Amino acid sequence: MMNSKLQPEKKINSYRTAQKQLEALLENETDTILKMATINAVLKQNLPYIYWVGFYIANQHNKLSIGPYQGTVACMHIDYGKGVCGSVALSKKTKIVKDVTVLVEGEDHITCDPNSKSEIVVPVFNKNKQLIAVLDIDSEEFSAFDEIDQNFLEKILSIFQ
Ligand code: SME
Repeated sequence: MMNSKLQPEKKINSYRTAQKQLEALLENETDTILKMATINAVLKQNLPYIYWVGFYIANQHNKLSIGPYQGTVACMHIDYGKGVCGSVALSKKTKIVKDVTVLVEGEDHITCDPNSKSEIVVPVFNKNKQLIAVLDIDSEEFSAFDEIDQNFLEKILSIFQ
């Protein structure tokens, strides 16, 4: 498979472009679903190393349900504590997984699509600092995500606060 990973400088430039597009598109917007859908589209367009991007919505009863996403069909329900998304829902801290294939299936990782090789999951908070969702981004390449992704994504997601 072609290597679609970006050198740090290019990755930073891509995120800066994405940030500018999002600022222009979402200025004065308040609708949560609209913001989620637009963030998915802008990230997918600007980051060649991602093939799945989407939000899991935090529900009552400690469950995540699939929200807006782009990519192959996703698992619809994830319990808090299960998989990478469920663990981030509990810890409320960003998690980067360089190789999802070494994780225990069903516990530490939930495989919705076997093409996923690495991922980043970022918690999403509202203005009351409550968890409203997690953003899950997957790559078909190992070690696709690093602190650059974490820093930019956490900044982008502060739009929900
Ligand atoms: N990556 C997830 C499952 C969701 S899919 O990748 C869309 C996890 O283990 O949390």
